[in-house]
Amino acid sequence: MAFVTEENLTALAEKRWATAAPPRLAELTTALVRHLHAFAREVRLTEDEWLAAVEWLAATGRISDDKRQEFILASDVLGLSTLVVQLNNRFEPEATPATVLGPFHIDGSPTVPYAHDMSDGVEGTPLYVTGRVLGLDGVPLPDVVLDVWQADADGAYESQLPEVDEARLRAKYRTREDGSYCVRTIAPRGYAIPMDGPVGDLIARTAISHFRPAHIHFLIEHPGHERLVTHLFQQGSEYLDSDVVFGTKDRLVVEFTERPAGRTPDGGESRTPYLQAEFDFVLQPSAGAGSRP
Ligand code: BEZ
Ligand code: FE
Repeated sequence: MAFVTEENLTALAEKRWATAAPPRLAELTTALVRHLHAFAREVRLTEDEWLAAVEWLAATGRISDDKRQEFILASDVLGLSTLVVQLNNRFEPEATPATVLGPFHIDGSPTVPYAHDMSDGVEGTPLYVTGRVLGLDGVPLPDVVLDVWQADADGAYESQLPEVDEARLRAKYRTREDGSYCVRTIAPRGYAIPMDGPVGDLIARTAISHFRPAHIHFLIEHPGHERLVTHLFQQGSEYLDSDVVFGTKDRLVVEFTERPAGRTPDGGESRTPYLQAEFDFVLQPSAGAGSRP
């Protein structure tokens, strides 16, 4: 048995954690020990700093519940969530890139018909998001489910508004025979991430902007294809180049084009001017379902 020294401690701890099962857990825990020790050695971590970090982690746990996930927010602002998305969604260059899911997705949104107005009376500038869902070969995909959710014209999700007790600004659409979809909604606004917790406390000590640019979330699922979790961002929106959760990708930035009153993309009539965002989503075939090597 080797007694502990500053020099041998990391190797001893790694050896202990290498006994974890299954082997993948051993791989994760030994790498974690290695990197944590390297971090402490590099910055010469003091005992007070170590205690402050433990207290910050404990506060992050205390503020989290089934509606608020402060650890995920921490992961988001540290860039870890986007890195994990990136590592696990290595799509072909033609496929629509994935971004973070974020904390505001809810399972079980209502399935609605083509061009249904999911704003359902929520105030804002009318917006139509239109386009097609295609395979990598450019073939339109019918009957694809697009689960859509967004903040309102003030940048708020319903869970952030005590006076709103119903789901809103979210719905599931399906593509038509020709792969086309039409989401009728209002233009969302960019917003601040929650700043009243330990993540906000940390961000407030930096020069980091705590805002996200205006965006709409999409979760697109279709048999034989990888699940696509992505956003569309409004071109010209503030914070596109400083998104606090590192979620913005240039290929997902879309013009919200001003259209005059009159004919709408679904063949209806609008008495007021409206915005239209046009975007074709391209799905990555599932591994083993025809993707290129
Ligand atoms: C969102 O876009 O809904 C979001 C993503 C990450 C952190 C906070 C919000
Ligand atoms: Fe969002």
